[in-house]
Amino acid sequence: MSNTIIVGLQWGDEGKGKIVDYLTEGSEVVARAAGGSNAGHTVINGGQKYILHLIPSGILWPDKLCVIGNGVVIDPLGLLEEMATLRGQGVVITPQNLLISENAHLTLDYHKMLDRAREARRGENAIGTTGRGIGPTYADKIERQGLRVTDLRDPSKLAHEVEWRAALHNQELALAGYGPVNVPEIVAQITDAAEKLRPHIANTVVVLNEALKAGKRVLFEGAQGSYLDIDHGTYPFVTSSNTTAGGACTGSGVSPRRIERVIGVCKAYTTRVGAGPFVTENDDIGDLLHGMGREFGATTGRARRCGWLDAVLLRYAVMVNGCDEIAITNLDGLDSLETLKICTHYELDGSIIAYPPPTVEEIARCKPVHEEHQGWQQDLSGITCYADLPARAKAYLDRIAELAGARVSLVGIGPARAQTLVA
Ligand code: IMP
Repeated sequence: MSNTIIVGLQWGDEGKGKIVDYLTEGSEVVARAAGGSNAGHTVINGGQKYILHLIPSGILWPDKLCVIGNGVVIDPLGLLEEMATLRGQGVVITPQNLLISENAHLTLDYHKMLDRAREARRGENAIGTTGRGIGPTYADKIERQGLRVTDLRDPSKLAHEVEWRAALHNQELALAGYGPVNVPEIVAQITDAAEKLRPHIANTVVVLNEALKAGKRVLFEGAQGSYLDIDHGTYPFVTSSNTTAGGACTGSGVSPRRIERVIGVCKAYTTRVGAGPFVTENDDIGDLLHGMGREFGATTGRARRCGWLDAVLLRYAVMVNGCDEIAITNLDGLDSLETLKICTHYELDGSIIAYPPPTVEEIARCKPVHEEHQGWQQDLSGITCYADLPARAKAYLDRIAELAGARVSLVGIGPARAQTLVA
């Protein structure tokens, strides 16, 4: 293994947690660098299902150091809840295996209120956020009025620090019928959280770079997907962080020169949650997958929108992230289909285009140019090596690699750790 970034190539939920878990064995450190508890990574290990929101999935390995980097936004109460749930499942979490960046920003109760209030006020233009306060936390960060993890170190100042920030938001909250912010309650909550989290707080930039200097390998666990990236996604229907490969560097303090490998993860089809254009959306494939009990969000439980594989999106995401390889997950979701479709290009106002256009209005006008492939109509879940995949499944994967411009290196055929095939 080498220092590797794992990124989602679609709208999140590509099954990155499982690929990260699979690749963790070859790394000593696993780091998160962007996003917050809007992420929901499901990992099934030893018959147990673990759902991770903020903690890197490396925590499921006893000997890995997990780092929540400076680019992540941390809901301290959510983090403690997640730690408690994992501990209840037998996972050992100590300051030796979980470190939190002192520069990461905190998501507080008022960020969640603001998230709901802003969504309500947007009306038909709502983004369909996860309601976890992500946008307002990053907005405060960029506006230079955020509270950071380091601020938890001195509880005597917390009341003052929360008070003046709350005052900034009360007027907006009142307009939407929310608030005012309950400052004493927030202070009590985070004072208690500070006590419990303090041993985990560190200068993770130094920790990561010294680990690299010592020859340890770092795996960067991407959250969300490329099309939720604030710069490169389907703006404004995006999240508020850089979810593409570059974000792993700014969000961790590790130089791009240290990165040796970028793996993009995509499903064998496409899904998205929340609002926004989705060129290959198809209700039949949605009904099929929902009927199999699949494609319900790990964070919100929402049914995901589903569609055919979109190679236009893949091609662009592979380029932006500089992917060497792609990992294709959920191939088994397509087992029963007689015919599969891949969207190779879009038709926009009479022109055939290979990359997504810049505005959601244009994307909404795009029509998919599909090609058809014969389905394998065989249960893939028990297959143990790539060579044993049916020829039609391999042809489908080869075509995806050709269209995306990166080789397929891993294929997921079920949720268990063993159901990942090396191509
Ligand atoms: P936010 O990140 O909660 O602000 O939500 C912004 C958009 O990103 C919404 O469309 C969400 O559904 C989407 N989103 C955020 N995190 C995830 C994720 O982990 N998986 C899929 N969609 C996500």
